[in-house]
Amino acid sequence: MKISNTLLGLLLSAFFLTPQGAVAADKKTKEAPSARKSIVVGFSQVGAESDWRRANTRSMRETFSKDNGYTLILRDAQQKQDKQTAAIREFIRAKVNYIVLAPIAEQGLDEALREAKNAGIPVIIVDRMIQAADEDLFVAWVGADFRKEGDAAVAWMEKTFADKKDLTIAHLQGTMGSSAQLGRSEGLREGAAKNPGWKILLSDSGEFTQVKGKEIMQRFLSENRNIDVLYCENDNMAFGAMEALEDARVPYGRSGGLKIISFDATRAGLEQTLAGNISYNVECNPLHGPRVEKIIRELQNGGKPHKIAYVDETAFDAATISKADIDARAY
Ligand code: AHR
Repeated sequence: MKISNTLLGLLLSAFFLTPQGAVAADKKTKEAPSARKSIVVGFSQVGAESDWRRANTRSMRETFSKDNGYTLILRDAQQKQDKQTAAIREFIRAKVNYIVLAPIAEQGLDEALREAKNAGIPVIIVDRMIQAADEDLFVAWVGADFRKEGDAAVAWMEKTFADKKDLTIAHLQGTMGSSAQLGRSEGLREGAAKNPGWKILLSDSGEFTQVKGKEIMQRFLSENRNIDVLYCENDNMAFGAMEALEDARVPYGRSGGLKIISFDATRAGLEQTLAGNISYNVECNPLHGPRVEKIIRELQNGGKPHKIAYVDETAFDAATISKADIDARAY
């Protein structure tokens, strides 16, 4: 019997390119992982806006390596939603086995994700979340509880400034509409609502970057220097804000004056916490590669991974952090 080229192509792609096909190939051959047909993962990353993000990309690259049996197609969306949508469509056209998506913002990806669903490609969401009308647009999500992170920062403020009747706050926000910004900002807003002396005087987005963090902090200082707390939604914006504070000769940290709260607790962020420049740093863990791989392994084996999985996180106080905390830091 003669098989047409098209049919042969379809059979081969069904065998090698679907998740189940990849398992079949693994079972059939008893070769080393690198010699088997690899699982193709398309990863749409937010960008390279922060140290956290770069550590996250490294974690994904290290996990989804050739040696581990994967082909990783990584696309950097440069913090632009249209690039993220284009990457998802490119992955669909390439018939990848899995799409892994780190969304820039919670809204706006439904259409592209529906196309992935219709193409039968499982989508795993990592880090930030999406707000979709249809829960079935993704199979699993793993990431941080950003609201809980905000609540941890607020609890520290309530304890630290318990004796202060009035507290003036400047708020450096992350990328607007991202889960990290929404959760951390909501924590502060609700904290201010239950502490009548707290006043959020200044608020703007530094888009999670050091350059923009500095620029916004310079503007804040030109508008009002009477700031007790800078609630800064990541380490890189905090570094930029510190540059602005130094240029303007405004005291901060352990030496007195304004106190900085930051998020991420990267190695560089923890060094600033140990130095007393950041007073409180709430952890956000970027090492998601192995977590996403665990989900893929479960799916490959016909299992049903948890739809939602939160990562455990902690926080560091400048008053109690030690050098050992920094030495233990992998990112
Ligand atoms: O979504 C996680 C956030 O994104 C991190 O706090 C920030 O540094 C990153 O860019």
